[in-house]
Amino acid sequence: MKPHAISIKQVRTADELRQVQRIREIVLEAEQGFPHEVNVDGQDPSAIHVLVLDRGEPVGTARVTKRSETEGMLARIALLGSHRGKGLAKRMLRHLETVAKHAGLQTIYVEPHAHLEPFFRSLGYETVPGRVELGGHQLIRLRKRVLAVLISEGGCLCTGSFVFMKQAEPRCSRSKTYLSKNPARPKSG
Ligand SMILES: CC(C)(COP(=O)(O)OP(=O)(O)OC[C@H]1O[C@@H](n2cnc3c(N)ncnc32)[C@H](O)[C@@H]1OP(=O)(O)O)[C@@H](O)C(=O)NCCC(=O)NCCS
Repeated sequence: MKPHAISIKQVRTADELRQVQRIREIVLEAEQGFPHEVNVDGQDPSAIHVLVLDRGEPVGTARVTKRSETEGMLARIALLGSHRGKGLAKRMLRHLETVAKHAGLQTIYVEPHAHLEPFFRSLGYETVPGRVELGGHQLIRLRKRVLAVLISEGGCLCTGSFVFMKQAEPRCSRSKTYLSKNPARPKSG
């Protein structure tokens, strides 16, 4: 697998969505034993999906569904066996987080098998107490607060957290306009 042969894109067509479901059939249904109803659960049309392509061939996928205006659920993460252990899942999930951020999400939840806890923690997720059950599988829960995407009046796109804005110079001059009109709130207590 040559690195430049890999691309990651947001799913936009019905054909691409079928490719997503085909990867899940192989990985989640056949390999992991999840029931078909977990693969095709009716939430795909409203979800944000990404596809990983190797020389144009679909090899991986993941999706985020909206639970509210600001909260999303990351799920249906699947890479073909031939493409694991090469950092592709991390690349794919970072890409998906960026798309989700631009869709207005601020917190992303994920419910994986317990052995993937270190993987998600390495991506910045924190463990939330409690366990959940899906298709006969016991799962844990983690969440990540993703940085807000701020668009100033002039149209300059800057990313940053509240803490970042208070501590560092804005990365573009136009964001100073945003900050002057939206001053950082003083700490309470
Ligand atoms: C989980 C999955 C997406 C990871 O893909 P991947 O490309 O192998 O992951 P990466 O190469 O980006 O590996 C990231 C890290 O996770 C670890 N990891 C990956 N799969 C793991 C597993 N099954 N058990 C424990 N650790 C695992 C890797 O060792 C790696 O650690 P490192 O960064 O310290 O080297 C892939 O193994 C897969 O599709 N599995 C089957 C479906 C599945 O379990 N989906 C998750 C449902 S929430």
